[in-house]
Order: sequence, then structure tokens, then C-alpha cells
Amino acid sequence: ETVTFKTLTGEAPIIIAHRGASGLYPEHTIKAYETAIEQGADFIEPDLVMSSDGVLFANHDGYLSDTTDVADHPEFADRKKVRQTPFGDREDWWSDDFTWEELKTLKARQRVEGRAQEYNDQFDLVSFDEILDLVMDQAKKGHKVGLHIEAKWPSHFSAVGMDMVAPILDAMDAKGLKAAGIPVYIQCFEPQFLADVAEKSDIPLIQNLIGPPYDKMLGMEISLDDVTTAGVGANKTMILNEDGTTTDYIDRAHDKGVLVHVFTVRDDEPAPGFADSRAELRALLDAGADGIWTDYPGTAVEVLEDY
Ligand code: G3P
Ligand code: CA
Repeated sequence: ETVTFKTLTGEAPIIIAHRGASGLYPEHTIKAYETAIEQGADFIEPDLVMSSDGVLFANHDGYLSDTTDVADHPEFADRKKVRQTPFGDREDWWSDDFTWEELKTLKARQRVEGRAQEYNDQFDLVSFDEILDLVMDQAKKGHKVGLHIEAKWPSHFSAVGMDMVAPILDAMDAKGLKAAGIPVYIQCFEPQFLADVAEKSDIPLIQNLIGPPYDKMLGMEISLDDVTTAGVGANKTMILNEDGTTTDYIDRAHDKGVLVHVFTVRDDEPAPGFADSRAELRALLDAGADGIWTDYPGTAVEVLEDY
């Protein structure tokens, strides 16, 4: 029996491995990405930041302490600094105070306490080039896994003289991603960055939305009427109600021709009002989500196959 989907295209939604299979292995490691690919994720998601020498690498934050062993490196003790961020001041080690060679001496760690800690301090940080090599290698083997790339804090990097737009696009050109037919989205919370990418590229763009109440508090609210990108990356709180029902947000987006990718499903932290992540995933499929970010792509692939 043919399954029909309420997605914008009617095709099956894409499963996006959030920071790789980050529920199982430390996020943004090659092991996390490879596991996601083995589990059948359609896309892997690198969050990108920059080193002091302009190397793009995968890390969720501009700082390093949540996901690496940097605090255990005495040689870097004096690099710890307070910086202002959009979310308040933070004392930490910052990506652009380190060369890539220095960053390669760090090891990745699991950020979530309740998840497997036994893989800590085993895996290196990963450059964007290494991620591109991974997907190109997959393509050569006949499997086109996509890249759902997020630029993190581009306004900060451009303020210190490091543009992120050209390095991201140039790296993909240099590796021949387009010619290899590898699907790509570029996403960001900052509209200016996406506008800058749109001037240089026809890659489909996703405007990430932090969702209420923080969007208003941080001045980051964007109405569907003002979306100019192919789609939005919507916080699942915009779709899932706490009584287990769903909002009409995806229908309203689809009426305007806007894709909705939804973040983030976690098997170990189902949304309030849903018995488990499988129920949550089914609700997102019912609501017409065009893409779903999950820390556990294996579960999402199974739910989609059984749908
Ligand atoms: O990029 C959207 C999705 O990944 C959620 O955001 O904070 O996990 O990067 P974040
Ligand atoms: Ca992200």
C-alpha cells in the first residue's frame, strides 16, 4: 500500500541526524555521523564554527567545554575567557582562540549526563572538510547521504573578520558535492547570514526559529509572512501541544509554500504529552513535517518505515 504524506511535496519527510547519532555517541564525531548513516538517516547535521586560523569545524557552540576535554588541558588553562553572547556572558574556551592544530589535540565528550559516557576522550573534533570527505566517500559507494549544515553564530565570526559564507560554499565546491548529486540544506538562526548565502548560491535555505517564549525575549521572532527561505527549522514546541495534540503551524507554512523541518526529537526526552519518542514522531508525521531532526535517527527511520 502506498503511503501518502502531508509534506509540502507529498514525498516522505527527511530524517536529519541531529549532530550525528548524538544520542548514542558524543555529538559531531565521525563515529556519531557514521552511525547515523548506517542507521539510514537521510541527512547528517554538522553545526559549524571556526578556529582562529579560519578552519570550519563541527561544534554546537562557540565555546568548547560542554563537548570536549579542553578543561583537562593545563596548556590551555590561560585561554579561558569571559565573552558576551546573545544568551548572556559566559566564561569558557572559545573556538576562535585556538588554531585547528590545537583543536586537534582535544577529544570529544558526551554532553548529556544520562547518555553513554564510555566513548568520551576517544574521538577527535572533526573539520568540515572531513565531513565533506565522509559524504563524498558514501556517494562513491552509491549512497547519497545529505548534509544539513548549520552556521553557528556567523555574526560573531564576521565581527572578528571571519566570514563564514564563502568558506562553506567554497569547501563544497572544491569537493564537488553538487556534481556528485549530494543533497544539501544550509540553516541558521541569523537571517542576515542566510540572505548573504542566497546572494551567492541556490542551495535551499532553512531559517531556524527558536520558538516561544525565547523568540520574543531575544527579538528573534519571525512571522511566516516574512519567511523568504525555502523553509523554516521550527522548534517542536511550535507544533506539539502538551496535551498530545498538534498545532496548525505546518498547515499554515505549507499554505505559503514553506517547508517545515522540526527540531529536536530525543528518545530519552519525549515531548510533554507524548508517551515516547515514537508517538511524538508519528504526531510530527501526521502533522506533515517535511523534515525531523533527531538525536536517535535509527528510531525515526523505523517509525517512518512502519508509518
Ligand atoms: O539547527 C536546528 C536544530 O539543530 C536545533 O538547534 O541548538 O540543536 O543547533 P541546535
Ligand atoms: Ca543545529
